[in-house]
Parts: sequence; C-alpha cells; structure tokens
Amino acid sequence: MSASSLLRIGILISGAGSNMLSIAEAIREREIAAELALVATDKPECIGLMHAASLGIPTFVIPKAKVETRESYDARLRVTLESQSIELVVLAGYMRILSNAFVNAFSGRLINIHPSLLPNHKGLHTHRRVLAAGDTVHGASVHYVTPELDGGPVILQASFNVRTSDDEKSLATRTQIYEHKIYPKVVKWIASGRLKYIHKQAQLDGHILTQPIIEYFT
Ligand code: GRF
Repeated sequence: MSASSLLRIGILISGAGSNMLSIAEAIREREIAAELALVATDKPECIGLMHAASLGIPTFVIPKAKVETRESYDARLRVTLESQSIELVVLAGYMRILSNAFVNAFSGRLINIHPSLLPNHKGLHTHRRVLAAGDTVHGASVHYVTPELDGGPVILQASFNVRTSDDEKSLATRTQIYEHKIYPKVVKWIASGRLKYIHKQAQLDGHILTQPIIEYFT
C-alpha cells in the first residue's frame, strides 16, 4: 500500500454476504480507511453479490468450469484480483478451499473468518459440533490464511456462552452478530497499518500475538 492511497480490498463470498456488508458499511462510514474495490464469487446466484452490486461495488462472478482443477480456478481468481490491484483479500463465507499456490501468492494479505473458537472445530458444521460436544463457550475467529485449513495465526476472537436453550440456528445467528463486530475491526487494524503479518506471525502495534485477542460477549 502506498502512503497516499487507500488499501484496496477484495472480498470473496459464496453466500449471504453479511460479513462483506459489515465491512462495506464500516468503509462507507469511514471507520475503515480502505477502498472496497471488488467483491467476487464462485456462486453467480448468491445473495451477497446482489447486495454488493446494489451498493455500487464492482462485482465479479467466476464460476467453476465443468472440468477444472482447483489450481486452474484459483489462477483465474488470482488474475482477477491482480487486475484490480487488490492488496488485501478477505474471505467472507467463501466456500471453496484455496490451493496452496493461491494462499502462498497472497501470504500475509489473506484473512478469513471462521465460526468457532479456533483451534476448536475447524471445518464445517461448527455450531452442530459445539452442541454435540457440550461446549459451554462458542464464538468466531478471524485469522490469517495459511495452507493448513483454518490453521493460520488467529488474530481476534469473539467468545460467548452457549445457553441451554441454544440450537444450531440460534448459535449461527448469535455467532454472526459478533462476527460483524470483529471482522471490520481486524480489517481496520490492517488498513491503518497497526496489524502486520511478519515471519508467519500476527503483530499488532509491534507486538507478536502469541495468543489471539478475545472479546467476550454474553
Ligand atoms: C459466516 O458465519 C462465516 O463465519 C463463515 O461463513 C459464514 C458466512 O456468512 N465462514 P455471510 O455470507 O458473511 O453472511
């Protein structure tokens, strides 16, 4: 990022895009000094894409070809991102696993939000698995993306208590409320230069995050 220009952010989505909207709103409100230069999706019919378009954000649909390797798809995605000079790639409900080549190309410039308190419950169906495990706390994690699925350095987590009345749906709803608080915050830290990825570690204000920062909600 040059000193005189705003960080150019690209957000990848596959679904409702509520996290994308929370970041778009923070940029619109000038909470985050960045430009949302692109929203791209693998799912032409996803609702988030319509929301992005209605906000005037440049949108890109990159459907997977019938016969196409992950590497080939990701190479096309990379060309799109680079054609728009994207400096930070934000995964927000993007449902494709990324190839190592893609992840390495954007190393330190690629973040994700995952609906669990990582390292607990990597992968899919996190709310169901929290209930099955009888966990008393749950949450969401924002992390740098590395080739290990959901395994990169965790930056910020939202944590809340599981209620006896919770079911999968209520946990999903509650998790998203907090996701919309922590994801824009991390993007803001990166855009302002407070958060950096150095030697495969997250550094906030010059201090290595040996543990994620945790925000507690009730
Ligand atoms: C979020 O819950 C996020 O944690 C997960 O996928 C969901 C995306 O929701 N990775 P949305 O598309 O941002 O509404």
